[in-house]
Amino acid sequence: MPAEPLILSGKPVAKSLKQELQTRVTRLAERGVQPGLAAVLVGENPASQVYVASKERQARKLGLKSVVYKLPADTSQAQVLQLIEELNRDSSIHGILVQLPLPAQLDSDIILNSVDPDKDVDGFHPWNMGLLALGKPAFVPCTPAGILAILKHYGISTVGKHVVILGRSRIVGTPLALLLSRKSEHGNATVTICHSVTTDLAYHTRQADILIAAIGKPHMITAEMVKEGVVVVDVGINRVPDSEQEKGYRLVGDVNFAAVAPKTTAITPVPGGVGPMTITMLLANTITAAERLSGY
Ligand SMILES: NC(=O)c1ccc[n+]([C@@H]2O[C@H](COP(=O)([O-])OP(=O)(O)OC[C@H]3O[C@@H](n4cnc5c(N)ncnc54)[C@H](OP(=O)(O)O)[C@@H]3O)[C@@H](O)[C@H]2O)c1
Repeated sequence: MPAEPLILSGKPVAKSLKQELQTRVTRLAERGVQPGLAAVLVGENPASQVYVASKERQARKLGLKSVVYKLPADTSQAQVLQLIEELNRDSSIHGILVQLPLPAQLDSDIILNSVDPDKDVDGFHPWNMGLLALGKPAFVPCTPAGILAILKHYGISTVGKHVVILGRSRIVGTPLALLLSRKSEHGNATVTICHSVTTDLAYHTRQADILIAAIGKPHMITAEMVKEGVVVVDVGINRVPDSEQEKGYRLVGDVNFAAVAPKTTAITPVPGGVGPMTITMLLANTITAAERLSGY
């Protein structure tokens, strides 16, 4: 019988990181600084509303100041840019996040680029992306940072490993590839990035020592697509209809967990794997911003 895989739950990782963050918040409070996070939410996207509410709740729980700006769906680009300009100047705000996706009339590139890079706690500004590409200290996008934190917590080394990443978004796949391939203790991997135009995806996924799926397709990765002993990180969060659930749906990952888990040595669950890490890393980035901006 093969050994049971290690379940890479994000909850204990998030919990232990939050204890460290609490210490940093207390230290800042002793100097009269309360880290401040501003979220800009445009429109009524239900998932975005849930995410922003959760970010606000967790920020407050840790002792951060948290302000959510809820703007109507027909807000103009000039109005959003003006709000961001005010937040850039507001010394009580150290982190600014613009919840994506934005309504169609807004240009997300222009809006994200207007955030002060020193307050860009989502790490989406080209300045921070550029620093990341150069291997310099930068605000790292929260989901990739959370994935690295999970691997570190469970003692899974990436050094010399072949990591295959499915997805090249600027939120997950691209920054993750930069982090994992860079010369560092928690990088030094050989990285392959796959996307929707990749030919023979299964050929690539079978090469992976560590497979990271961030594509947004429920249960797309099957047992035949992975080799024995692989480590799997499933970033996907997909709603599938389920009449047995009160909400009428349940959340599943990009990986068919039941079929794939027996072939793995370690695998993240969905929900409860990468998900709990993303907001934790956002809080970490906000506290780092507050430390830097207050000269700590
Ligand atoms: N756990 C978390 O906190 C967290 C955070 C962020 C995202 N997510 C989840 O992660 C998933 C990905 O999010 P995202 O924002 O990165 O999505 P995205 O912007 O839609 O990007 C999806 C990527 O997957 C690729 N792709 C799509 N179909 C594919 C296929 N059949 N084969 C190979 N690659 C394919 C796309 O390729 P192209 O570039 O060629 O289009 C794209 O690069 C979603 O389920 C999202 O909900 C979770």
